[in-house]
Order: sequence, then C-alpha cells, then structure tokens
Amino acid sequence: METVMQEKQPVLQISHLNKTLGNRQILKDVNLETYSGEVFGFLGPNGAGKTTTIKIAVGLLSLDEGDISIAGYDLRRNFEQALEKTGGIVENPEFYPYLSGYENLRIYARVHENVTEERIKEVLELVGLSLRAKEKVGRYSLGMRQRLGVAQAILHRPRLLVLDEPTNGLDPAGTKALRDILKRLAHEEGLSIVVSSHLMSEMEMMCDRVGIIVEGEIRKIQPIEEMISAAKSGYEIYVFHVSDAAKAAALLGDLPAGTVAVADADHLEVQIPGAEQEATLAKINKTILQGDVNLYTVSRKEDRKLEDVFIEMTNGQGGGQIG
Ligand SMILES: Nc1ncnc2c1ncn2[C@@H]1O[C@H](COP(=O)(O)OP(=O)(O)OP(=O)(O)O)[C@@H](O)[C@H]1O
Ligand SMILES: [Mg+2]
Repeated sequence: METVMQEKQPVLQISHLNKTLGNRQILKDVNLETYSGEVFGFLGPNGAGKTTTIKIAVGLLSLDEGDISIAGYDLRRNFEQALEKTGGIVENPEFYPYLSGYENLRIYARVHENVTEERIKEVLELVGLSLRAKEKVGRYSLGMRQRLGVAQAILHRPRLLVLDEPTNGLDPAGTKALRDILKRLAHEEGLSIVVSSHLMSEMEMMCDRVGIIVEGEIRKIQPIEEMISAAKSGYEIYVFHVSDAAKAAALLGDLPAGTVAVADADHLEVQIPGAEQEATLAKINKTILQGDVNLYTVSRKEDRKLEDVFIEMTNGQGGGQIG
C-alpha cells in the first residue's frame, strides 16, 4: 500500500449551506471542505446540526440553499454521480443477522455495478474481519457490526466516507480498532473521511483536522495539532503555597500576571499567560519574597484539557435543546 498524496481539489465541498426544518433555521451558512487522505472531525454539542449536515451530504435530506459537491459532482445537478462517490453510515447499519458478514456484503454488492468477489474480500481485510467473515452477523459484537458497516460503505470505492458518531456505544478496544481502520483508510487508501462526534478527546486521537459547529454555525476549522498547541499556549494556572495568601495577593495586584485568586489562607492561584511564562513566574516569586511573605512551593495545576477548550468555545452549550 502506498501513501496517497493529499490533493488540492476538495473531495467534499460545502458552500453556504442553509437548512430550515419546521420553522427553525438549523444550519446557517455552513462552509467546509475535506480532502483526500484526511480524517476530518465534525465536532459539536448535541443539537448543533452535525447529523443534519451529514444527511444532506449523503443525499438523505434536501438542501435549501447553498451548494455541495462531491469529487467534483454537484449534488443537485449530478445527484447519482455524486452519491456514487460517497459512502456513509448515518444510522446504525442494518444487516441480516442469520447471514454471515461475507453474505451480507455479497447481497449489498448487487446494489452497485462492478463490485467483484475480490473487492468484497479486500474490504473485509481492510476492516479486519477476514477471519470472522463466515460467522453469522447475529453473533457479531457491536464493534464488529460497525466495522462491517464501514466495509459495506466502501464496497463501491467511494472517494468520500461519512460516518455519524461511529464510535457511539463502542468500548475502548472497539473504539480503537475502528479509529485505526479509519486512519488507515484515509492515510493509506486516500479516502476523505468525515466523522462526527461530540467528544473532543475522541477527535484528538482520530482526526487530522477538526471543524467545530455550534447552533448550526461553523465556529472554527483547524488542524488538530494547531488546536492542541493553542490549548496549551493559552494560559496555565500556578499554585503558590505562601505564609499569607491575602497579603501576597495584595502585593501582586500591580503585576500584569493574569488573574490572581486566593484559594485559602496560604494558597494563591495565579493564571499566567502562556507567553513569557518563566519571566512572569520569576517576577511573582520575587515580589512575594520582597514583600516579606514566605514562599514555600510553586506548582502548576494540571494541564488544561482540550475538552475544556472545546467547552469554552461552545460556551458550554448543547445537551438540552432538542426540538
Ligand atoms: N425533522 C426535524 N424537524 C425540526 N427540527 C429538527 C428536525 N431534525 C432535527 N431537528 C433539530 O435540528 C437541530 C440539529 O439536529 P442534529 O440532529 O443535526 O444535531 P446533532 O449535532 O446531530 O446533535 P446530536 O449530537 O444530538 O446527534 C436540533 O435542534 C434538532 O432538534
Ligand atoms: Mg446527531
């Protein structure tokens, strides 16, 4: 298997997508592009509009306004060609439980032109089910069924694979297996993969780029590496163990050291911006000591998590607003 170079042409291109359901505008001017060779994470709290966007992209829901193209085919004007380049799992994939994984794929293969026996074997290999292909699907674990769903979705060699919350309900081992398969399909087979989730921690492990959607609007699209380094360089919280926290806080009042908070009589918490952190720490230490307060220890509170950054970015929204 050779590494596929990332092409410049987007595989999925969504431009100015608007969607109203009932009398509510669910999607507001959504723009995004995904490319061959990458896993794109579509991240947002419950009710943000992930499933709606995905349903439109895979042709299950009409688009009101805007344009979508897949592998260069316009979804409105060239619906069939666009969908021929798309594979997806939106709801849980359905299979005949009394047939084997292999037999299920053979039946499904008839929907498409030119899916050969070799291709069926190839996709079973790609999702790590070759050895279990002859077992009845009724005996498959949820993780195996999800992988068979991926096999089914890529049978016809689509350029784009779209999965709505594919790891829902999977245990850590099942999640990792699926994650590794998706990465391989993107990085080695050159698919453009879109995966939705409401968990930043999951996106962090699986995705090359992440787009954050909140209340139907794209807030940010960024490579995951940049998101992580931005999270780290934001600020850190340091805890100062001192003899008199109130007095130390008063001394630090004039320093441009970020927010100072007294935790208890002898602990002070200071939020220090990422830039020039050492210089600021040195200045704080000196000020405390010169002000005649004893300084016993300085320690850094645990790292800010990417999850916190996501929650800040979405203002802690989501969860409740269904309907
Ligand atoms: N048929 C419908 N009629 C009216 N509103 C709808 C309809 N389907 C979805 N919605 C609303 O559209 C919004 C976006 O829903 P969507 O399912 O796309 O969110 P989501 O990001 O996938 O959320 P989740 O993380 O819960 O899956 C929600 O507020 C939902 O209630
Ligand atoms: Mg959803």
